[in-house]
Amino acid sequence: MNFLSISQAIKQKKGKVAVRGWVYRERGSNEFKFLVLRDSTDIIQCVLKKEIFKKQWDDIDKLQIESSVEIEGEIKEDKRAPTGFEIKAEKINIIGFSNEFPIQKDLNEELLGDRRHLWLRSRKMTAILKIRSTVFGAIHEYFRNNKFYEYQSPILQAVQCEGGSTLFNVDYFGKKGVFLAQTWQLYAEPAIFALEKIYTIAPSFRAEESKTSRHLTEYWHAEMEVAWASFKDIQDYGEGLLKHIVKKVLDENKKELEILERDIKKLEPCVKKKFPRITYDEALKILKEKAKIKIQWGKDLRTIEEDELSKLYDTPIIVTDYPKEVKAFYMKETPGNPKVVNGCDFIAPESYGEIIGGSEREADPDKIKKRLIEMGEKPEQYSFYLDTRKYGSVPHGGFGMGVERVISWICGLDTIKDAIAFPRTMTRWKP
Ligand code: 4AD
Ligand code: MG
Repeated sequence: MNFLSISQAIKQKKGKVAVRGWVYRERGSNEFKFLVLRDSTDIIQCVLKKEIFKKQWDDIDKLQIESSVEIEGEIKEDKRAPTGFEIKAEKINIIGFSNEFPIQKDLNEELLGDRRHLWLRSRKMTAILKIRSTVFGAIHEYFRNNKFYEYQSPILQAVQCEGGSTLFNVDYFGKKGVFLAQTWQLYAEPAIFALEKIYTIAPSFRAEESKTSRHLTEYWHAEMEVAWASFKDIQDYGEGLLKHIVKKVLDENKKELEILERDIKKLEPCVKKKFPRITYDEALKILKEKAKIKIQWGKDLRTIEEDELSKLYDTPIIVTDYPKEVKAFYMKETPGNPKVVNGCDFIAPESYGEIIGGSEREADPDKIKKRLIEMGEKPEQYSFYLDTRKYGSVPHGGFGMGVERVISWICGLDTIKDAIAFPRTMTRWKP
């Protein structure tokens, strides 16, 4: 048999076709068996007449959901069939029988999590995983189009970067002080002196003790770092990247967005409109006036405040100039205002939270040391990093984008856990 994918078979519309896949739905009578077959591209109804399959009928009768089969027959339009076409089967090869599939429609989240390896076959997860693939492709494409080199940092690292409280310790041959990467950043900055414009997509790890809809302990992190970049350049790249990703998904995944019942009108403004850029001070003012929320200057924006802010816009917004105390040690003081830093958070619409965090980097090694000491860190351990400021330092900066956060927003998901095949959280590390 010369197999077509189900979507190719549907495109062909008539004549002989051979397809293969898994039983998505089945029902039978004394004379017929109706199988809706699924492959990675689509589903199609197949009808098998007992008269034609006398010898095989006992086996055909045993076909349950998720059995794998090859079917050859005549395809024709049929308005009543789920995708508008039906194959009148002439031959069937049963490849693998299936036990009773342990997922019915109304399983709770815990049980679906336990059976994740099987749940991946659902139309919902298949649609999300296809969009995820587009997103990864779009990230590579954006950075490569903009002449970035792809560069890799180690995952086993000897220093923290985003705060000691979310570090995963590794038992490294019995030695202490080895951690899983929270970010590539401290090992990426040294490489800009060689490559100037670099990016990566890699897993990052955070020991987040929070059970929210937007935190994973292992997530995929798209990061970039650029020599000679201004703070504005960093924000421009972030905006350009998000626009490119959303445009790609809108171009390539209409069908998947439809399966997920995602209203694409909510995504279109991100491609068409400029992202508002506001300072932390302006954000406080807007929250006070429009959401009646009062925040003391110097406090970080919490989830509820980010959510309230996001409700006021239909594109991501960029918040800049945060108080120094709430941001990481490597961020550059805003010139002329040493209380705040040239750091930015991109907040997604519809309460999907922070999707990008970035900054211009502090160039003065003494200022970095001072902040490390304030945090209780030992600057000696960062000597490799401080060296980057001693041998021809240049203005530079970068950002990190949480890929699952972006997928979660684009797909309109209830939880970030569905944005990745096998989610890892505080309470879930199996299967
Ligand atoms: O804001 P963060 O902590 O910034 C950094 O790690 C910088 N070193 C990046 C850089 O400048 N190269 O993390 C960046 C992004 C966040 O904006 C968020 O989207 C995502 O990573 N993120 C998470 N995503 C899923 N689960 C978690 N626990 C996450 N923590 C951060
Ligand atoms: Mg952040």
